[in-house]
Amino acid sequence: AVQLLKTVAEMRELVDAWREAGDTVALVPTMGNLHAGHMSLVSMAAEHAEHVVVSVFVNPTQFGPGEDYTEYPRTLDKDQRRLQRAGVDALFAPSVEEMYPAGIESTTQVLVPELSAILEGAARPGHFAGVASVVCRLFNICTPDVAAFGQKDYQQLVVLRRMVADLHIPVSILAGTTERARNGLALSSRNSYLSDAQKQQAAALHVALTAAGDAIQDGEGDYGALEASGLRQLEQAGLQPEYFAIRRAYDLAPAGKSDMNLVVLTAARLDRVRLIDNMLVSRSS
Ligand code: PAF
Repeated sequence: AVQLLKTVAEMRELVDAWREAGDTVALVPTMGNLHAGHMSLVSMAAEHAEHVVVSVFVNPTQFGPGEDYTEYPRTLDKDQRRLQRAGVDALFAPSVEEMYPAGIESTTQVLVPELSAILEGAARPGHFAGVASVVCRLFNICTPDVAAFGQKDYQQLVVLRRMVADLHIPVSILAGTTERARNGLALSSRNSYLSDAQKQQAAALHVALTAAGDAIQDGEGDYGALEASGLRQLEQAGLQPEYFAIRRAYDLAPAGKSDMNLVVLTAARLDRVRLIDNMLVSRSS
């Protein structure tokens, strides 16, 4: 059965026992409201370690003022049942006080500069410092050998890989491909804020990313024109795009002619909901 652990001490005790037995540990950090995307990370994690821990923690420090921290869906009982069926060993669901015992105002922060200031970071100041700060704590508490994150939050993945490299944290980061609805819409807990009609409209992100990806693979080298065309497509679908950017996959720098591994990233608003998606593209020549 999946063990529900709410304190750092309990979590440490369990991981210590596994380690004593010579076993390895995988961590899947989440904010809960688990969907098929999270469950595919759980399956991937299980292939890389003997024990899987899923953390469910709606982290206050990564939400900006006016963002959806209080509305964010909290469904712990349902999440626990889902993890139980998936054969997960442990569910770590600490309180805010447990994670930030001295409060959040004056707590130690982990900041990955530059990478945290562009794209999503420009739209959401402080967001990636909040993400890095909580994931660093989760790594210190669970000491996983591997940790799995979704590619849907591509910039988060780049920021966390950089944090792990810079701070010499002994964990391997695994990236899981994005699970999608039939119309192409990337699965996200925030999709629960959308009506069925809006979910149709939101599929425009994937359509525009696919068009840009196909054009790059076909040899189109005018990235500025592709970015402008992506923004136009999203507007035509009735969305309010924030950015549509073609970048180098490994460090999100603007892509140049000699860069082969690219990522196209986009963010757009649909009413009050902010949607993000991305697509990796390898140029063949
Ligand atoms: O991707 C998420 O759900 C969150 O940003 C994470 C990694 C669990 C940190 O709170």
